[in-house]
Amino acid sequence: MRVLLTGGAGYIGSHTALVLLEAGYDVTVLDDFSNSSAESVARIEALTDRSVQTIACNLGDLREAAQALQVIDFEAAIHLAGFKAVGESVKNPSAYYRNNIVSTLNLLDILRAKNVRELVFSSSATVYGVPQTERIDESHPTGQGLTNPYGRSKAMIEQIIRDVHASWPDFKAVLLRYFNPVGAHESGRIGESPSGVPNNLMPYVAQVAAGQRESVKVFGDAYATPDGTGVRDYIHVMDLADGHLAALQHLEPGVATYNLGSGIGYSVLDVIGAYAEASGKDVPYVITEPRAGDVSRVIADPSRANQMLGWSAKRSLDDACRDSWRWQKQNPEGLQGRYTVAE
Ligand code: NAD
Ligand code: UD1
Repeated sequence: MRVLLTGGAGYIGSHTALVLLEAGYDVTVLDDFSNSSAESVARIEALTDRSVQTIACNLGDLREAAQALQVIDFEAAIHLAGFKAVGESVKNPSAYYRNNIVSTLNLLDILRAKNVRELVFSSSATVYGVPQTERIDESHPTGQGLTNPYGRSKAMIEQIIRDVHASWPDFKAVLLRYFNPVGAHESGRIGESPSGVPNNLMPYVAQVAAGQRESVKVFGDAYATPDGTGVRDYIHVMDLADGHLAALQHLEPGVATYNLGSGIGYSVLDVIGAYAEASGKDVPYVITEPRAGDVSRVIADPSRANQMLGWSAKRSLDDACRDSWRWQKQNPEGLQGRYTVAE
């Protein structure tokens, strides 16, 4: 069975491609390499000793994408392509809506035209807005109180997929709401290559441990959490990749939603401490003002995925720090060579 991975050269897509190849699937990666490089695909091929069909194409261009996919037979698609930097989405909303939403509309039209009925979509816990419960399950309201265009684009796409299903009852879709993906493949050959200054905590901590940056800025220490810093549900990217495989194997007509998280919350200081331990390096930090739009805690209730998909997170925060550090040490400049010191 062949699976199309849009955005398959990126951070989560590359790990998912590897897991699918190891499970015996054939993989086609469609990517415009706007935030990745062909090197990650070459590395997946080397790690798995399998070849990956690669299409360099902008999914936002319907003609180009439809033409490229016309000659390819695939039975399911995992749709990861999109822009994901929250701050950038606030500065340039139309680029975010255009890329994320138009790409999805194009893919949905192509699937319909080819009668490909299976879709797994990369959504985010961001659709829940400000958590109203200690741990968030899939029945938590979505689309309310979202503070940025990135988050809103995810909520809108979820709705679009539901509407497409309403018009096409045979369509089988899964919306995967990722919590905080971290870590890298244990080989250290593929991982996350942020461009410029990392927005997310773990890649920033990795660059501080490596001596590339002076100290971690901890965004606030007066939250209602045990140590006052923000608490998140960090999920190892290989567990996340396994979650895509499980979702693909359990597709049914309809639109199902699943949280992919560990169910465990760690604070910013927990992450810094775990990373220092895993790397054997000092990780200095300073407390700064809270970041606009941040909330105190976001933790998944992953019971539905545990029960319905037979999936659960197996790797710990320590595993993620160890694997991130191996990746950081082996690839200090990332794969695209876009690491910059200036903040
Ligand atoms: P990434 O940037 O590493 O991967 C996205 C890939 O999509 C990149 O390779 C990029 O080149 C490609 N792409 C972007 N626009 C495209 C287009 N128009 N046509 C073809 N390719 C295009 O990001 P990631 O972290 O791997 O995220 C994958 C998906 O998961 C995204 O949709 C993201 O919003 C979602 N997600 C990520 C996180 C996270 O923390 N990383 C959390 C929740 C959800
Ligand atoms: C962010 C996005 C969210 C996205 C998620 C995964 C925002 C507001 N939210 O979530 O939409 O789905 O990434 O990609 O950007 N922190 C620091 N110092 C740093 C960086 C982060 O203290 O340099 C803290 C944050 O305040 C937070 C925690 O570390 O408490 C995790 O932050 P981050 O990795 O950016 O993820 P989220 O904010 O959870």
